[in-house]
Amino acid sequence: MKITGHTKIVGIFGDPIGHTLSPAMQNAAFERLGLDMAYVPFHVKADGDGDLKKAVEALRAMNFSGVNVTIPHKESVMKYLDEADDCAQEIGAVNTVVNRDGRLFGFNTDGPGYLKSLKEETGFSPKGKNAIILGAGGAARSIVHAFVKGGAKKMVIANRTVERAEALAREFSSRNIKIEAASLDKEALERYAPETDLLVNTTSLGMMGRGDLNLPFGELPKYAVVSDIVYRPLMTELLKAAKRYRLKTHGGLGMLIHQGAIGFELWTGKKAPIEVMRKAALKALKKR
Ligand code: ATR
Repeated sequence: MKITGHTKIVGIFGDPIGHTLSPAMQNAAFERLGLDMAYVPFHVKADGDGDLKKAVEALRAMNFSGVNVTIPHKESVMKYLDEADDCAQEIGAVNTVVNRDGRLFGFNTDGPGYLKSLKEETGFSPKGKNAIILGAGGAARSIVHAFVKGGAKKMVIANRTVERAEALAREFSSRNIKIEAASLDKEALERYAPETDLLVNTTSLGMMGRGDLNLPFGELPKYAVVSDIVYRPLMTELLKAAKRYRLKTHGGLGMLIHQGAIGFELWTGKKAPIEVMRKAALKALKKR
């Protein structure tokens, strides 16, 4: 990578940040398009004394093109921005910031990135479909929001803490979509399974080498898609179990790539080289 007197900087704010694949992915894309830009990770501490606010102010002061924002700053960053798009406002979280002449605009590309990846890898579109969402945290929120926007027919949110699932279901239920809450176990999900088109895991279980949750795979229709947003490992226990039932599977790396690709396009105004980004992310992932 060549740094010049004109190099435009983008980056990522998070805590922890050392595990991020985004620098490898974004820098490979800048290089492929011959852009004089560089993507840098910044460890902005969660409990730092106003560190996030100072970091956001630095974006303006140092004329960054923008940043990604990751855990734990996605919600708290919003109050320091000038504007946020509808998607970010409805979700209440921002993962991408764009600096337009000193005005900072927030976007949330997680849900749209997830849908793009799902469509690309499995052909699945949410319109008129039924989904089971495992988990009720930040990642689940983005996906539930994307499914609501995408015209899904019915959703069930299943979570270890049922109250969180109930709150999320209440918030996004409307005249057009029925959202129910359930506990995270086979018995609770069995009755929904036969009419489910997609089951997606948004919990971190797969990252811990678990996530082979005792789920009613056998009750799902043959055409159902099983998706896991975890990409470390690429083949989670949940996906392995789904494969044993010959169900179509969708891993988490595509969501990472597509949420980043939308960010790339917002910062550069150019079409993201998806395959270059995928190759770089895979290479970085395998190095660990
Ligand atoms: P994220 O932003 O990645 O979604 P989060 O908001 O902390 O992170 O949410 C984590 C999700 O994983 C939650 O749904 C959490 O369930 P609880 O609401 O009951 O905490 C779920 N989760 C984490 N560890 C889990 C475990 N060991 N078993 C089941 N669910 C788990």
